[in-house]
Amino acid sequence: MSTELQDFLTTYQTRSNQLLENHLAGYIKHSHKKLAEAMKYGALMGGKRIRPVLVYAAANALGSINHIADTFACAIEAIHAYSLIHDDLPAMDDDDLRRGQATCHIAFDEATAILAGDALQCMAFELIADDSDIPAGKAIQAIRLLSKAAGAHGMVLGQAIDLEAVDQDISIEALQNMHEHKTGALIEAAVLLGALAADANSEQTHALSRYAKNIGLAFQVQDDILDVTTDTETLGKQQGADASNNKPTYVSLLGLDGAKDKATGLIQAAHEALAPLDNARVLHDLADYIIARNY
Ligand code: IPE
Ligand code: IPE
Ligand code: MG
Ligand code: MG
Ligand code: MG
Repeated sequence: MSTELQDFLTTYQTRSNQLLENHLAGYIKHSHKKLAEAMKYGALMGGKRIRPVLVYAAANALGSINHIADTFACAIEAIHAYSLIHDDLPAMDDDDLRRGQATCHIAFDEATAILAGDALQCMAFELIADDSDIPAGKAIQAIRLLSKAAGAHGMVLGQAIDLEAVDQDISIEALQNMHEHKTGALIEAAVLLGALAADANSEQTHALSRYAKNIGLAFQVQDDILDVTTDTETLGKQQGADASNNKPTYVSLLGLDGAKDKATGLIQAAHEALAPLDNARVLHDLADYIIARNY
């Protein structure tokens, strides 16, 4: 990893952790104790913070990281945390381990985990709506973007397709569609929120959107690869969970080498998409990191 990317990652992981922690502390102060603890557990206990980092990296490519990027970074991570809590539930992937610890429904109980996910989702939108430093028009655009990416035409659609695909032979096109929704949509939203925070023009937004679609799909291809290649301890989640749940993945359809080639091709396309941007070094290196990571 380049030193520039390492520095950027460390700086903005720390910054988003701090912001999320501070915001959550205030948000849950007068809420229910167990619910509040489960929300903190799901949002703060580990995680690479890739989506916040992408918000900042997109804004950085356009030359301005500001307070609006902070709020958007926090909001997208709250949505992501909710999606993971629900993804692990017995009715979904039924996983016991996440980020090296018991999943939220194991550490607390199922109902509390469901509610913690629900509340984190609402918190994301409230965060944006409550920030009086964001002009109203921009706040509405952000809420629109995030809700579309998260909902029945975005991540939740992808999750519905994922559950239906268990035990099925699906085509590579259907698999790609599933991955673009369940994971790609929120990754793309992260990049576009960074663009919105930094007032991107339409050419810049178009380039960033192409970049984001490619890294978004690559992110889930790599997640499928890691499920096979990385041990449970490094991964922080159970190795082989996809195979034991009989989920179609890039590895099950294309084999390990085929999946790796697919990921490499997507990262190349992501790099090419950055051509119109002047200051895209961090975004370029982040794309490489997405398929070089081992957890
Ligand atoms: C895991 O996401 C779930 C997917 C969408 C593939 P991450 O790999 O970003 O998980 P954390 O936040 O770092 O734990
Ligand atoms: C996650 O896909 C997609 C989400 C919307 C959370 P996975 O089910 O493959 O994610 P992991 O492997 O459990 O993190
Ligand atoms: Mg899943
Ligand atoms: Mg899962
Ligand atoms: Mg997975």
